[in-house]
Amino acid sequence: MKRNSIHQFALSGPLAICLATALATSPAQARDMSAQPSAAGTVEIEPGQPEWAAPDAEMDRFLDELIGRMTLDEKIGQLTLLTSDWESTGPTMRDTYKADIRAGKVGSIFNAYTADYTRELQDLAINGTRLKIPLLFGYDVIHGHRTIFPISLGEAASWDMEAVELSARVSAEEASAEGIHWTFSPMVDVARDARWGRISEGAGEDVYLGSKVAKARVEGYQGDDLSAVDTVIATAKHFAAYGAAQAGRDYHTVDVSDRTLRDVYLPPFKAAIDAGVASFMTSFNEVDGVPASGSRYLLTDILRDEWGFDGFVVTDYTSINEMVPHGYAEDLKQAGEQALNAGVDMDMQGAVFMENLAQSVAEGRVDIAAIDTAVRRVLEMKYRLGLFEDPYRYSDRARQEATLYKPEFLEAARDVARKSMVLLKNEGDVLPLVGSAKSIALVGPLADSKPDMIGSWAAAGDRQTRPVTLLEGLRANAADGVTVEYAKGASYEFADEGKTDGFAEALALAERSDVIVAAMGEKWDMTGEAASRTSLDLPGNQQALLEQLVATGKPVVLVMLSGRPNSITWAEDNVPAILHAWYPGTQGGHAVADVLFGKYNPSGKLPVTFPRNVGQAPIHYDMKNTGRPIELGAPGAKYVSRYLNTPNDPLYRFGYGLSYTDFTYSPVTLSSAQMAAGGNITASATITNTGQRAGEEVVQLYVRDLVGSVTRPVQELKGFEKIMLQPGESRTVTFEIAPQDLAFTRADMSHGWEPGEFQLWIAPSSGAEASTPVTFTIQE
Ligand code: BGC
Repeated sequence: MKRNSIHQFALSGPLAICLATALATSPAQARDMSAQPSAAGTVEIEPGQPEWAAPDAEMDRFLDELIGRMTLDEKIGQLTLLTSDWESTGPTMRDTYKADIRAGKVGSIFNAYTADYTRELQDLAINGTRLKIPLLFGYDVIHGHRTIFPISLGEAASWDMEAVELSARVSAEEASAEGIHWTFSPMVDVARDARWGRISEGAGEDVYLGSKVAKARVEGYQGDDLSAVDTVIATAKHFAAYGAAQAGRDYHTVDVSDRTLRDVYLPPFKAAIDAGVASFMTSFNEVDGVPASGSRYLLTDILRDEWGFDGFVVTDYTSINEMVPHGYAEDLKQAGEQALNAGVDMDMQGAVFMENLAQSVAEGRVDIAAIDTAVRRVLEMKYRLGLFEDPYRYSDRARQEATLYKPEFLEAARDVARKSMVLLKNEGDVLPLVGSAKSIALVGPLADSKPDMIGSWAAAGDRQTRPVTLLEGLRANAADGVTVEYAKGASYEFADEGKTDGFAEALALAERSDVIVAAMGEKWDMTGEAASRTSLDLPGNQQALLEQLVATGKPVVLVMLSGRPNSITWAEDNVPAILHAWYPGTQGGHAVADVLFGKYNPSGKLPVTFPRNVGQAPIHYDMKNTGRPIELGAPGAKYVSRYLNTPNDPLYRFGYGLSYTDFTYSPVTLSSAQMAAGGNITASATITNTGQRAGEEVVQLYVRDLVGSVTRPVQELKGFEKIMLQPGESRTVTFEIAPQDLAFTRADMSHGWEPGEFQLWIAPSSGAEASTPVTFTIQE
């Protein structure tokens, strides 16, 4: 098997000596002892078990022996993850991490990378501790490591799983070349509230799309061989329901029904497991009164017992400590007991296990067997990565130098960025900018701002020099004779609302130009962690400038850079063309230019609903109908489910996005209008490119279960396919649907489908009116 190939390394020199000290039986010896190949030379993998988790008798013997030699303190060290003194996302509880490594008190380190630095720290563990157990290095490699891709929400907007996987693959190659073994990604939290800043970090609001993206990311990071030196361990986070924070305020209380938990928030985590994810991270929030890091229901009943997860569980940053302010633990010692007993294997940064667990064992509050189980999970991962054979195998300066910013990585980042962009409006075909647009006025606070191009979670990304801004991108890619002039004009800082300082310069530039490109949106740190807002409007004085630019009468193209859906309702009504570019990454300026100049025909579709205003949040396409749906009443009727001052419809629907060409959809044909319990049917539609340009279309399948033992959403995405069509070309897209695709948590809390009538449609976006539904039934 491929994953065994790394165990062919011969040990020699000081490393062999240090490992011999650590191990009475080296992995190599153990392998020889167990060299009893099965008939086919393969290892049996249980159905559904990832390849990396295959039984390994050699490893078991090795770990039995090692754990047998460990003191309680050494075991607790393996359950401890600390940050280095490089930048981190929370309070630093201990700044003695180097001394802690030497003392065997810490088994994993995060926020430390580069071949040299990880080697230096690894040395402390290998040459400074009794058992010489190698460190595991983790880091937030979220949408690129050095070469930064579009933010995660933007990548999801590509609906292109190959692009998503490629981004994760490149991230893994760069990160692993800098000594990183483990990324704290993918973030698979379903997010339906645009106020919540972390909406930018996931795949949006949908269960189905989110599950596909989770799979693509895990496979990209981990490859098909976890032990390969250019792959990293992925982490499904934040378990669970973090995206349901009340009022969109980060870290706030979560109170969802068990049904919603299981039908909405958990499936992308399960999809990550099915894709073989090797670690999980708990979330900060409580779920039904219990902080996630102390939830036996989540971490053991569901994760281990229902889903059979084989990897290890790390907490989020100091989230064990936070069980005290949550009011769930009276002190840190009790919090540590609750976490360990619930199923946490590793304490991130809180030093709670380090400082309290031994006492808890002495008092009989934590069973040593539970500690051994957690230790084994952590050591198993180190073993499977090959770190016991060569603790420095990822810390290779030559590989680092040969890997970072490879031209093909930069090209991939540009390509994924343009695939992620969503054309929201294009009245009068203002875009692409060809022909008459000889002079372009580029204005706005995001037009020439390097730090903003890469978003909030570009941890190791260079914010100052590498990112290509819109100004640089437009200038580099403009046709001969086309000028691009720039004036910042406005500010996105909250404090600058009401100021007009730069307006005159921007308006003068606009007046002497053929077309205005306004690069507006949010500052890079207005989304991400601890970045919730109570308004979704353009911050600062951007809206005021935008209105004055439109008033010039020149065509305006609004390019939005933002990590959340913004309520750009005025722009939708008044600006002819709008492109949502998220934070597009290191090559962002080139990618925006490719779209604006028509070198790339936009193909992204929204992975989240854009509300008209903040009052509609949280809003998502797969809502319930209610007993008084607005359609029941005459326009303006009172006693229906509506607002007095805003329509129910969003500004832009989930799944929506335009192209420079046009597509038509034929009516849907079903292979049968009856689906047998054990069978399936197919649904097909023919899509035609009726425009003048080649283009890609994301063809979407929606289903509505009309009556259930509990109420069902008015629509659910059940399939999609991204196709490329030449002008005039048609393609028939066929989806297969089986009863289990329509399963949900039924009234009795069992998971399954129910017989009855369903509507189905194939459409360019959510919203039944986008296509005429057909009906089928599942028989008893
Ligand atoms: C975030 C996690 C992240 C961790 C480590 C926390 O504050 O919630 O998503 O992985 O920090 O940086």
